Amino acid sequence: MAEETSWYKDAVIYELSVRGFYDADGDGGGEFRGLTLKLDYLAELGVNALWLLPFYPSPLRDDGYDISDYTNIHPAYGTLDDFKMFLDEAHRRGLRVITELVLNHTSEQHPWFLEARSSRQNPRRDWYVWSDTTDRYKRARIIFSDTELSNWAWDPVSESYYWHRFFSHQPDLNYDNPAVREAMWEVMRFWLEMGVDGMRLDAVPYLVERESTSCENLPETHDVLKSLRARADRSFPGKLLLAEANQWPRDVAAYFGAGDECQMAFHFPLMPRMFMAVRLEDRKPIVEILQSTPAIPDSCQWGLFLRNHDELTLEMVTDEERDYLRDEFARERRALLNLGIRRRLAPLMEGDRRRIELMNGLLLSLPGTPILYYGDEIGMGDNIYLGDRNGVRTPMQWNGGWNAGFSAADPERLYAPVISNPVYGYQAINVDSQRRYSHSLLSWMKQAIRIRQSTRVFGRGSMEVLDPLNHRVFAFLRELGEEKILVVSNLASQAQAAELDLRRWKGSVPIEMSGGSLFPPITERPYLLTLGPYQFYWFNLRRL
Ligand code: NOJ
Repeated sequence: MAEETSWYKDAVIYELSVRGFYDADGDGGGEFRGLTLKLDYLAELGVNALWLLPFYPSPLRDDGYDISDYTNIHPAYGTLDDFKMFLDEAHRRGLRVITELVLNHTSEQHPWFLEARSSRQNPRRDWYVWSDTTDRYKRARIIFSDTELSNWAWDPVSESYYWHRFFSHQPDLNYDNPAVREAMWEVMRFWLEMGVDGMRLDAVPYLVERESTSCENLPETHDVLKSLRARADRSFPGKLLLAEANQWPRDVAAYFGAGDECQMAFHFPLMPRMFMAVRLEDRKPIVEILQSTPAIPDSCQWGLFLRNHDELTLEMVTDEERDYLRDEFARERRALLNLGIRRRLAPLMEGDRRRIELMNGLLLSLPGTPILYYGDEIGMGDNIYLGDRNGVRTPMQWNGGWNAGFSAADPERLYAPVISNPVYGYQAINVDSQRRYSHSLLSWMKQAIRIRQSTRVFGRGSMEVLDPLNHRVFAFLRELGEEKILVVSNLASQAQAAELDLRRWKGSVPIEMSGGSLFPPITERPYLLTLGPYQFYWFNLRRL
């Protein structure tokens, strides 16, 4: 396949909130002009694609996932011209841009919904899903279980119930209606034509409802996506569709189709198991989930992540695993939300630099495309005293000055308070200070990303898991053509030794990739490695 159209395989994606990144006009929230001023920072970090959280007009009751106009910019974030300027400047720096396509639902403020609810005879009525009772689709679970009691909400205007899988102010669109499918294609076309490089498809499993099913992952839903993909390919080849489907591996893999649906999908089940493995000091959870992950079409790629703008979701684990993860990672019960944990990476790792590096090391070397969450590259903290998921969406910490260098506004005016506690506060954790010394987390991240980007093996290579006796050590081989990379990680808090069976690569010499040191050549004998607490190595295996 053409390299150009599979660019996402070589990408390191950076997820960010326009509102949270940089406030150039001093009104207390970021905007496109501010973000554009920070593009050099992102290019310098070494990422090559940006995923932007929703920036469309919206009442912002779900941080913009409640859209009231799909083809415009929220006035607080600027104008379409500002967006175009940002897009050009990003492209000029080699940064691709991925935007959000929220297919499943609109805001209740969207003109479509206002029309649809205005009377039962309105021509738009059938754009949403209505019922006279709450008895339909009983088998569908409630996703926002801390807020919603039912997937039906009463509309006093038209005196009937409408269907919603998320907040009750987010009515689901009716994908059985061809006009809805057409309208969403028009939305997609609008942004692809403007030049965005890909779209994250929000909440895709829930597009279609059918009686006596869970209303998730239905064949009709896949048909909708396949048709969007075919149309995108026809008019805009090389644009990425990234599925957000929080499902078990087999069900997520279905979103790749036969290479004719989404090119990428987030690996939701792997993520919590990376946290579990480091906590249990055992590779088993990761190895098991990789083993139960089906092979995917050649053109497709997993999206890997540690944290994002939502709670660390624990939907794709067993009840026992969930109890364990909650006990270990959310001892403070305020950190729990819905089924997950609303914390950022650094606090989850108790601020332990070695564990933060190890987790990022896994993220950058396992098969797939890594997706970093803004602020995690400097080890930002969170604020579990803010409601919903707002505690992991606080302003980016640029320096130790006024409002963390994020905004010139009065602090009271900020869309969310900056983190200011003594451990993770902006005086301690910020970009400027971490830029100034070469052993900061930021400098380490830059180097790790640079190594990842120095070869295509990580993004495109095969994966073989090794099986050393010491199960605290997780070792695997990535291979692409002649290139071979050996990754060995110590998941434990104590130093470990492991003997690896590397006979197949006899005669090769492991070269440690961060410093270039040569390790002893591989022979017939078990290859002995010792690793400090949470230490990991990336080796290039070379025949000298
Ligand atoms: C998934 C998004 O990641 C989340 O932030 C949002 O609340 C729901 N979809 C509903 O749109």
